[in-house]
Amino acid sequence: MLKHHTKLEKNSILLLIFIVVVVLIGGLVEIVPLFRIETTIEKVSGMRPYTPLELVGKQIYMRENCSSCHSQQIRPLRDEVERYGHYSLAAESMYDHPFLWGSKRIGPDLARVGGKYSDEWHAAHMKRPRDVVPESIMPAYSFMLERGADLVSLKRLMRAQQIVGVPYSDAMVEQAYNDAMAQAHNDSDTSGLTERYGEKVNARDFDGQPHFVSEMDALIAYLQALGTLADIKDYELTTKEGM
Ligand code: HEC
Repeated sequence: MLKHHTKLEKNSILLLIFIVVVVLIGGLVEIVPLFRIETTIEKVSGMRPYTPLELVGKQIYMRENCSSCHSQQIRPLRDEVERYGHYSLAAESMYDHPFLWGSKRIGPDLARVGGKYSDEWHAAHMKRPRDVVPESIMPAYSFMLERGADLVSLKRLMRAQQIVGVPYSDAMVEQAYNDAMAQAHNDSDTSGLTERYGEKVNARDFDGQPHFVSEMDALIAYLQALGTLADIKDYELTTKEGM
């Protein structure tokens, strides 16, 4: 064996060929499993596509480029998990087209911000961040209270999401406007909405303006859903059993 090795080491072309072969094998071992995407996304219950109102909120988040200051990915490092909560699972980005993982943290990670604060806190914070966090450098977004959420293009938006693989049913697309209206008002009939998106959906007036569905309503509905969809406790149980 060692004798053959000397031969290899003395012939640079042969050595090069062998290096390439070894690197290729290593590459295949790493890359091929990723083509079977179902093996890389862990199973976790509770994941659902965004409701129409949350989807509009996500569009606003993208338009304002909140990801230039906020990431949405908690890495499995101790400091991050202690600060932000359970590390992000691949399944949690399953319906994000595009995903908003971001790469910069001028502000905190938002992957699990849902349920962390009240709606009133979010509305006050978005309106004037320094009213609630005096040292904040986040810009103010008070105009969102006055602008109506764009519920008119919802159907087209959801059709586009269908094309890229989000499992919105035709009924969900048809009912998009009604579902968004039901979610953004207090005491509305939410039976259709919860039938389509589950009992856990937050349905209420989010921005303190009960008779007007503003961009703020949509954005807060989106923020309050972030990181709350997957049942992390179930996931931990199944992974422990699997071990
Ligand atoms: C210039 C950078 C910047 C931009 C752009 C920005 N933020 Fe922030 N954000 C911050 C900073 C810094 C903080 C921490 C201080 C604070 O709470 O205001 C923060 C805090 C937050 C928090 C509270 C997070 C927590 O866990 O305490 C939320 C929610 C939030 N931002 C949402 C948004 C949304 C939504 C947008 C887009 C509409 C946005 N931010 C745009 C910098 C930014």
